[in-house]
Amino acid sequence: MSFPERSVLVIFGASGDLTRRKLVPALFRLFQKGRLPSGVQVLGFSRTSYSDEQWRDYLQQHLPPEDREPKEAWDRFAEDLFYLPGDLTVPEDFTRLRKQLDALAPEGTQRIFYLATAARFFPRILSGLMDQQLHRGSPPPRVVVEKPFGHDLASAQSLNLLLHRGFDESQVFRIDHYLGKETVQNILVFRFANAIFEPIWNRSYIDHVEITAAESEGVGTRGATYDTTGVLRDMFQNHLLQLLCFMAMEAPNRFEAEAIRNEKVKVLDAVRVLSPEDVPRESVRGQYHGYRQSPGVDPQSQTATFAAVRLWIDNWRWQGVPFFLRSGKAMDCRTTQIVVQFRQPPLRLFRQCGGVHEGNRLVIQIQPAEGIQLHIQSKVPDAGMELTLTDLSFRFDRHFRGRMPDAYERLLLDLLAGDASLFARSDEVELA
Ligand SMILES: NC(=O)c1ccc[n+]([C@@H]2O[C@H](COP(=O)([O-])OP(=O)(O)OC[C@H]3O[C@@H](n4cnc5c(N)ncnc54)[C@H](OP(=O)(O)O)[C@@H]3O)[C@@H](O)[C@H]2O)c1
Repeated sequence: MSFPERSVLVIFGASGDLTRRKLVPALFRLFQKGRLPSGVQVLGFSRTSYSDEQWRDYLQQHLPPEDREPKEAWDRFAEDLFYLPGDLTVPEDFTRLRKQLDALAPEGTQRIFYLATAARFFPRILSGLMDQQLHRGSPPPRVVVEKPFGHDLASAQSLNLLLHRGFDESQVFRIDHYLGKETVQNILVFRFANAIFEPIWNRSYIDHVEITAAESEGVGTRGATYDTTGVLRDMFQNHLLQLLCFMAMEAPNRFEAEAIRNEKVKVLDAVRVLSPEDVPRESVRGQYHGYRQSPGVDPQSQTATFAAVRLWIDNWRWQGVPFFLRSGKAMDCRTTQIVVQFRQPPLRLFRQCGGVHEGNRLVIQIQPAEGIQLHIQSKVPDAGMELTLTDLSFRFDRHFRGRMPDAYERLLLDLLAGDASLFARSDEVELA
């Protein structure tokens, strides 16, 4: 990876949850591992009236306990953290931001603007940047947009329009943190670095695919926001469709952003659009007991906290193979996994024998217990010709030492290097 000599990452939403829980801890971990390129400075922007020192203390207090020691590491890292109190709704505060940036980041510095506020502020931030000409410069500044990217097609299109008024597509990085997960990237490696799966990765051998993201927690204190979002916008449009793309896409010609994104777009383009008449047959929606009593939730709310959708991909590879996508809150367990159910052998040679007779199953565990299992039929020893399903199993934690990096570590590093492979393109989010 090659990095600019100097970068400044401006975080809008510097006092917020995402910054303290994900962004700054990820940067700090990269720093501790020696992977954060030198010359990276961070400038936080939000209304709370911190000084640089107070913001650093606030962030340090919110580090996960395992990252708090040694304190000297944090102190060295924190030297490059700066803070500017400002209100996004006040145009003069963008003037102050430009001045601060001119002082902090001289000509030639890579400027990166990270939109980590509520989505309703995105248009305001973008116009504020453009008013101050902060979208121009050499090297061209980058802008990072957190999810949700709009709340429907029209709002996603208008956000794209607004972005493209000032920024070229190559400057825009739309985050879906699922793509930063090691296990998600491993889907590409599993499929395209091993020759043995690709020949059977199609309608001739695969019966169906299940993509599940179950969360054990309810909405907690996020009721008010969640009630206007619901599970389809929270999980399906972004994370589950990204997993679907990785599972269903053709091999890209090159391992680079445009080639990968072209293949993902082809998958989304081939997903059959459900008509209103299809919806009751192809989907289920639900709400967990107690949801309406959560703080901030409308007592009459119809918002779905669970959904299951059967999608069909109309192309040669996948014709007739259903993809079941499902996600819910307050479920029995927390797991994100993909199950590829293979067909039974064409001739059922052992059908008279006892035991379990099922098609092979490939299980890709995205989280927790990250790994891959292949369920195969085997003979039970000393039991005549009885069959059972057994496992060929790979677990990341057993095979590799150290803890799994957080998805934001990878995404922030790619962002600093300008590699957009793991970020969504405008046509991709609109199709999704
Ligand atoms: N939190 C997560 O785990 C997570 C995960 C994925 C995506 N996201 C996305 O990330 C974004 C931020 O989420 P969050 O959970 O961090 O939200 P949050 O905790 O509510 O933080 C919002 C931030 O916006 C700032 N802000 C609000 N009004 C402002 C104004 N008028 N001027 C300047 N700053 C203002 C707030 O600071 P002041 O009050 O100090 O101004 C605060 O720093 C959202 O788009 C969310 O969907 C979050």
